[in-house]
Amino acid sequence: AITVDPATQGARIDRTMYGVFFEDINRAADGGLYAELVQNRSFEYTTDDNKSYTPLTAWTVTGGAQVVDDDGRLNARNRNYLSLDAGSAVTNSGYNTGIRVEDGKKYDFSVWARAAGRTALTVSLQDSGGALATARQVAVKKNGWARYRATFTATRTSSAGRLTVATADAAALDMVSLFPRDTYQHEPNGLREDLAEKIAALHPGFVRFPGGCLVNTGSMQDYSEDSGYQRKRSYQWKDTVGPVETRATNSNFWGYNQSYGLGYYEYFRFAEDIGAMPLPVVPALVTGCGQNKAVDDDALLKRHIQDTLDLIEFANGPVTSKWGGLRAEMGHPKPFHLTHIEVGNEENLPAAFFARFTQFRAAIQAKYPYMQVISNSGPDDSGTTFDTAWQLNKDAKVDMVDEHYYNSPQWFLQNNDRYDSYDRSGPKVFVGEYASGGNTFKNGLAEAAYMTGLERNADVVKLASYAPLFANEDYVQWSPDMVWFNNHASWGSANYEVQKLFMNNVGDRVVPSTATGTPSLLAPITGAVGLSTWNTSAAYDDVKVTDADGNTLLTDDFSGDAGQWTHTGGGSWAVQDGQYVETSDTAENTMVQAGDPSWHDYDLHVKAVKKSGK
Ligand code: AHR
Repeated sequence: AITVDPATQGARIDRTMYGVFFEDINRAADGGLYAELVQNRSFEYTTDDNKSYTPLTAWTVTGGAQVVDDDGRLNARNRNYLSLDAGSAVTNSGYNTGIRVEDGKKYDFSVWARAAGRTALTVSLQDSGGALATARQVAVKKNGWARYRATFTATRTSSAGRLTVATADAAALDMVSLFPRDTYQHEPNGLREDLAEKIAALHPGFVRFPGGCLVNTGSMQDYSEDSGYQRKRSYQWKDTVGPVETRATNSNFWGYNQSYGLGYYEYFRFAEDIGAMPLPVVPALVTGCGQNKAVDDDALLKRHIQDTLDLIEFANGPVTSKWGGLRAEMGHPKPFHLTHIEVGNEENLPAAFFARFTQFRAAIQAKYPYMQVISNSGPDDSGTTFDTAWQLNKDAKVDMVDEHYYNSPQWFLQNNDRYDSYDRSGPKVFVGEYASGGNTFKNGLAEAAYMTGLERNADVVKLASYAPLFANEDYVQWSPDMVWFNNHASWGSANYEVQKLFMNNVGDRVVPSTATGTPSLLAPITGAVGLSTWNTSAAYDDVKVTDADGNTLLTDDFSGDAGQWTHTGGGSWAVQDGQYVETSDTAENTMVQAGDPSWHDYDLHVKAVKKSGK
């Protein structure tokens, strides 16, 4: 029996308790959440970034063209441009399979261009089957850089589109861009709608960004410091704001390039659009994630501390301030209401980290006493480094400590009581990254069970986010992930459904309860797995399952009128090692299988089919 005394009030649960953690890992940003369809739009890829890259990665030239870096460049942070010979053309292949366009939808093309005389650009969209839209003419009118635009309306749907820019006379091109008109909430320089909607549907309390290892690895120097045009830089917010054509490309810890088109302004705007608290992470001048080095450069540390103060001014400062003014220029005069900031990520050198963290915190709280400055406890959930970090956090009376753990489902089930014994007078806890090692139902269930322990301890655990959030199925470097996608579809995992359930049902208070008796063991899940639908009305006859393109995968009869079930896929299934395994092969089973590597090829749409005449 479970006994609940409604008169006893437990801990208050903050509305912000469950959130999301976005990191550009698994190509989650460019070719993912950031809606830009052109890859390497500014010809900035280099072999130093990644051995497979050149300045013409994702481009093919017909005729003559050279990538040029000279005084005629667009600006100091966008150094390369393409010099295209008269009568030549250049074609971009987009990300993964190509450029995704949908029949009837609008796509906005833009390019920075200049030509010695006037020239006409012909811009077209096509795939191997021919044109995907009517080609557009763009007149380049001057010998100085200017931005030119055109709009396409797609006449077919394709995930393998190509964008071609051809020129009659010689022309220089940079920042060749194609955006779907339908970005999330129609924001300019916006986000891919289905991916943003999946996050929005969670109703997250906060968005932690931009990393992760992305933040505290690589050079801590600025793009142009030491005249080296630093690549492989840690994520530094000033690189990512202002007009997109002035944001220098970077190669990141996860081995590929970031355009920074999705930058700090876009993160703040997205958090605001979905009603979530923004929670940025800045580097603490300790290089983590296996590299474990402290950066000993006092001037650089001071610069990063000042950058962090400037970040707060960018988020909250008046429009008359330098950085608040930039925010206003970018389109958001009102503040973003930043209240929490994290310094450092998973730091493995507690003493070196604390020597730097305390300087950040002192400077931040001197200027912005209301800011909560979040520290961390390193990469492990226990051990000497963890204990040392926690002791330092307690001694320094830190507001909140970020803990990360990636463990087995068993660990999550066995550690439900982890926070029952945490010191109530010490720092609060932010579980900034956690996952139980898989995307199966069993993992989701173990995480759900664990989250009841987080919630029971809502007086100590203030924030929690599953990690990582996104994976592009063609570039998976970390799995499991909460939401998966390719060029034309996205799908949430079992873990996503668990997060959605908790985030959409955040209670006000914990109601203390006690349980007696021995719960019976759950039987292992075996047998039929299928799709069941309940007929609510006599007007409906069948249930139809289609894929994303509307092709019927099956139609099943309701066995009677209203108040009847229909079942599909009722073949033989078993759970082995936490995966659903198909043990008999019928078309129906193949369609609805979960846990199999091919399951996500199906984007299923279930429709009730009306009886004729009703
Ligand atoms: O979430 C993936 C990685 O796991 C993060 O970048 C890092 O913080 C952790 O090690």
